[in-house]
Order: sequence, then C-alpha cells, then structure tokens
Amino acid sequence: MAKAVVANDHGAVELAARVVEHLKNRGYEVSYLGTDKEESIDYPDKAEEAVMEYRKGGYDFGVLLCGTGIGISISANKMKGIRCALPETKYAATMAKEHNNANFIAFGGRIDYKEDVLDILDGYLDASFEGGRHQRRIDKMMALEGK
Ligand code: RB5
Repeated sequence: MAKAVVANDHGAVELAARVVEHLKNRGYEVSYLGTDKEESIDYPDKAEEAVMEYRKGGYDFGVLLCGTGIGISISANKMKGIRCALPETKYAATMAKEHNNANFIAFGGRIDYKEDVLDILDGYLDASFEGGRHQRRIDKMMALEGK
C-alpha cells in the first residue's frame, strides 16, 4: 500500500482533514502528524517533523499545509533531499511529479484556489516521473544543495 505523511500548521486544519480523508479514500496509508488544533504553532516545526518521518523510509510522498503553503514548503526545501512543490493548478501538480519528481507537495488552507485542492492533488497522485532529461536536471538541482 502506498504511504504518505501529512502535516500542517493552524492555518490549514480543515484542509488537512480533507486531504487525509481523500488520501485514505484513495487507498493510501497516511501518517497524520497534525495539528488538528487552531492554536498557533510554527510551520518550520511541522515541516521538519514531516521530513524526519519521511526519512524513516517506506513513504512515497508527503503533503505539507500551512496558511499559504509558502512557509512550510520553503522550510521543507531547506532539508536535504526534499523537493517540495507548491502548485496552484492540476497541470502544475502533474508536472511537479512528471518533470520535478517532487517528493512533497504543499497547499495553503487560506488560499482561494480556482481548482479544488483535491483535484490538484490528484494531478500529482496520478502522474509518474518521466526520467530521462528530467533526471539530469534534478541531479543538477540537488547539486545546488548547500551552495
Ligand atoms: C501562520 O499565520 C501563517 O504565516 C502560516 O500558516 C503560513 O501561511 C506561512 O507561510
């Protein structure tokens, strides 16, 4: 069974519940790290928690959520080996997998998306990495880490 880790701050509690339910309905095993509370917490802490969990192994991808998706995705992208995409359309989410082989995907609970976030997420879930020239570019991208 494919496995995902999901984490969020207080800016995306409702969206996180929808995402977790959707992933489970699609047959994914989900490790949900919260928060399920409205109290203010710091998104870098949730990004770190999710990436550390992902690194334990057995995970296919992670979903990170905060008010905009920006802070938590930037935080995750500071950690080695992480490629966290922040798509606003299904097309971009599909490309995040096909071309960028993103291992995390982020959304904002306070963003008024033109497409349903779950449809955007489906674009990522239903896509496959194309490899080839895209692997070369990813190798170059990852070589930028620490520069
Ligand atoms: C929290 O108020 C908010 O700043 C956070 O959820 C996120 O939007 C940051 O990028």
